[in-house]
Amino acid sequence: MGSIETSLQENRVFEPAEDFVKQARVSGIAGYEALRAEAEADFEGFWGRLAKENLSWKTPFTKVLDESNAPFYKWFEDGVMNVSYNCLDVNLQNGNADKVAIIFEADGGEVTKVTYRELHARVCQFANGLKSLGYAKGERALIYLPMSIEAVVAMQACARLGIIHSVVFGGFSAKSVQERIADAGASVVITADEQVRGGKNIPLKPAIDEAFAIGGCESVRNVIIYQRTGGNIPFVEGRDLWLKDVIANQPTECEPEWLSAEHPLFILFTSGSTGKPKGVQHSTGGYLLWAKLSLLWTFDLKPNDVFWCTADVGWVTGHTYIAYGPLACGATEVVFEGVPTYPDAGRFWKMIQDHKVSIFYTAPTAIRSLIKAGGDLPTKYDLSSLRLLGSVGEPINPEAWVWYYNVVGGARCPIVDTWWQTETGGHMITPLPGVHGLKPGSCTQPLPGIAAAIVDETGTDVAKGNGGFLVIKKPWPSMIRTIWNDPERFKKSYYPADFGGKYYLAGDGANVDLDGYFWIMGRIDDVLNVSGHRMGTMEIESALVANPLVAEAAVVGRPDDLTGEAICAFVVLKQAAPQGAEAQAIAKELRDWVGREIGPIAKPKDIRFGDNLPKTRSGKIMRRLLRSIAKGEEITQDTSTLENPAILDQLKTSR
Ligand code: PRX
Repeated sequence: MGSIETSLQENRVFEPAEDFVKQARVSGIAGYEALRAEAEADFEGFWGRLAKENLSWKTPFTKVLDESNAPFYKWFEDGVMNVSYNCLDVNLQNGNADKVAIIFEADGGEVTKVTYRELHARVCQFANGLKSLGYAKGERALIYLPMSIEAVVAMQACARLGIIHSVVFGGFSAKSVQERIADAGASVVITADEQVRGGKNIPLKPAIDEAFAIGGCESVRNVIIYQRTGGNIPFVEGRDLWLKDVIANQPTECEPEWLSAEHPLFILFTSGSTGKPKGVQHSTGGYLLWAKLSLLWTFDLKPNDVFWCTADVGWVTGHTYIAYGPLACGATEVVFEGVPTYPDAGRFWKMIQDHKVSIFYTAPTAIRSLIKAGGDLPTKYDLSSLRLLGSVGEPINPEAWVWYYNVVGGARCPIVDTWWQTETGGHMITPLPGVHGLKPGSCTQPLPGIAAAIVDETGTDVAKGNGGFLVIKKPWPSMIRTIWNDPERFKKSYYPADFGGKYYLAGDGANVDLDGYFWIMGRIDDVLNVSGHRMGTMEIESALVANPLVAEAAVVGRPDDLTGEAICAFVVLKQAAPQGAEAQAIAKELRDWVGREIGPIAKPKDIRFGDNLPKTRSGKIMRRLLRSIAKGEEITQDTSTLENPAILDQLKTSR
């Protein structure tokens, strides 16, 4: 992968084609500047106008933004609405009833299409099923489902009733599920018997039983199971229910619960710089407004587009750009169960060809792995339906960008490199395809209304050409409302006193170039980005030290060609540091252990053993030295404060 340095040396600019600009929803610099100027001149008026024009309100709001308890901002609070109504019923009224909402392609290639009318009926049945079991507004549902129509239906059904969902990615372990059930106080779990990936059936439901066995799941009254494969799984009488029985004979109409725009729509757990994941809480009205608008603006979404976001609904990208945004726009979207390399590395390209996908949104890791697996494969398919490409989750190196642009996009499709986070709810800094000249590796400029800036430690803007902390100076509608159960942590993490407590601190370092383009440099906290997934180093350390063999552990990241960053663990055992075959065996055991504690995505790529860790005299682990060792770099840093310099040599040679 090209490093940040290669990104910064990148000076090619790819201007948007004239005919793209002409037809774009936001057209040319003038279109962009007009929206920015509107937000600048009357911030609340701008957001109020957009919320009125883009959402359907049962009772209109009278106040746009309440800053009285900042940073706990409230948007459109006295407005009453329902997210599922906006995604489904609105489409039945405006002529989209028989339009295909979802084209679902299963791992094995079977395709199922669902119209808006059918989706509405299925969501209503699911919601009625939940209601008949006594579930109601304000309760929490933990969703642990594979990519499926049912996952979207389950989320929408919760939204219809005001039940707050918390979707957990199917790659997380039973222990992670248990922690999330307990933290959210979930009263219902919605899962599947098995998931199917790359031709294999992988059990899912047993993880729920294991979570119960760990304890702390007493809040759960029922586990609802979608039969994806019909695999043989344990069934707990009295607690477990088959989804097909829950929805059987339920009416296909369900009056939505009318909710304040500030009612929590969902909680999504993400990694932070302490050991415990944070439950990021999102709202109803502000969230949906931005989910919809960012699709219209960033993706220039039009009625005839076929939109495909390859994320999993277990991540925020799958929430905003699969479960909610596309439906709020009345779009046709592709939902994919499988993996990009099964049955071969042409899967994505074949699906684009088969479904005539016009807007394709994926992650740099997927792009890099597909280059590796068959860089000329896209040319074997008809990709002429594509008109726009997107990238998300991690910096895209210029080499991957240029391949994506030329080979996938036929040098015809703009690439929107969208910077955002679980906490921001939707895109924040991204090119607009009919506006910005593109520089490979830069997410270009903030969307209209988003007050992104780069500041120094004192909170002062850095001059163009410099780097610093990425902040958002004004609130925005889809922002995180709080951390579930932990408002203090919300304040401390995102509105720290160092910056006067008034700016949202993103946790990323960034540079701004002389054209005012933003370049994301990566996290400034102890969070790693592995294949576009956020992993807290402390979380992995806690998992490692929970193993009976381990005395101490420190986890750092190192650059990786495929996954962006790779996880490196330095481990001190309760026994002397092992070597050779013994070291390999223990490393494997620890990797599997982390897989069980958190999930396979958290398994360290490298594990090094030492008799100690490099520490200062006051006992602080010197992580910057570990980072150098992990990268295989010469240590040029000052090591004079190190208590045990000899440990560096041992760690350097420990693999
Ligand atoms: O470091 C940034 C990186 O991913 C982090 C957010 O991760 P998460 O909450 O899991 O959300 C990922 C999907 C939105 C950010 O703090 N990141 C995200 N998008 C980009 C990015 N880094 C560079 N370029 C991007 N386009």
